Formats: sequence, structure tokens, C-alpha cells
Amino acid sequence: MEKSEARDEAVAETVAKVRRIESEQGITREALAAIRAELLRLAARSELFPPEDFPGPADGKDNRLYTLSMDSDKRFALYLNRGSADKDTPPHNHTTWAVVVGIAGEELNRIYRPPDAEDGGPGRLEVAEKIVVRPGTGVCLLPDDIHSIHMRGEDVKLHLHMYGKAISEMKERVKYDPETGRTEHFPPHRDAR
Ligand SMILES: [Fe+2]
Repeated sequence: MEKSEARDEAVAETVAKVRRIESEQGITREALAAIRAELLRLAARSELFPPEDFPGPADGKDNRLYTLSMDSDKRFALYLNRGSADKDTPPHNHTTWAVVVGIAGEELNRIYRPPDAEDGGPGRLEVAEKIVVRPGTGVCLLPDDIHSIHMRGEDVKLHLHMYGKAISEMKERVKYDPETGRTEHFPPHRDAR
């Protein structure tokens, strides 16, 4: 079997399991942990995801996003993210569930407490947790959870990012100013438009 064929088959099997978990359990922390377990199993087969099949952008800047699977209604979107050196995203939500697992390299995720809007303004975002997503680990986010991603170094960084719907469909997604907690629209990555 060709490598890409084996990859497509493994991806299709994983996505079928993810669909089943969501339909049986709904969108809960437990369901996302079960989805993470399936994605970790897929990511562990790193021979299916050789870096040469997923090059970074020509200018060496920003991440590059490859769509591995997406349903015709834009649900259950699985991407491979080829990270770059010195990349930071602002804190943002997804308006759908999200699970990130590592194939190669490290992606630091900062998870934030929801901004407290009670005393006159949203205020500064506080980091609740830091998780390094590397081979064997992953992070799960409910639709309103807020995270940011940070990458350093020139080593190869490959991560699976799966969402309940395609990034292009996250029309209400917002990014947060970490100092003020104020939000503005967070447009999709150029590869996902
Ligand atoms: Fe994200």
C-alpha cells in the first residue's frame, strides 16, 4: 500500500471513531478526552506523516495548515499543522470543540481563565494552565475555552488539530487582547480560507 493511501485509511478510521464519540457522548470534557485518545493513536503512527510530505511555507514564516479530512458539511475538520519557529497566536476561542495532539516537536499551549466581565470591563486574561503538546500528549478545548499557541526553534513541528467544524466556518471566533480582555474577530488562517 502506498504511504498516502495508508495515511488516508488511518485518517478515515480515526474520523469515523470521532464522529461516533461525538454522537454518542455529545460535547463534554469526557468526550473530548476520548477523541484525544483516538487522535493520539493516529499521531503515534508518525511514519504516516513524514515531514517531507508537509513542508513549511516557502518564506519560513507562519504555520502551514494541511487539511487531512473534512466532512461535506464542513464538520469534523482534521488538519495537520506544520509549525514554524517563533510563532505565537493571540489568545482565542474556536466556537466549536478542538483537540490538538503532537506528532513531532513541541507546541506550548496556554489556557486562560474566562475573562471576568463583572467589574466594569473584561480585564486582563489570566493563564490557568500551560500544556506542552508534544508526541504522546494533547489538549482538549470546549467551544468557549481560550488558548494561545507558542512555538520556538527550527526543529520540525507537526501537530494534528481537529475541530468540530472547519476553521473557515468559525465565523464568530474571537481573539483577546491579553492585557484588556477586549475581543475582536479572529480571521481564519490563510490556508483555511
Ligand atoms: Fe486554536
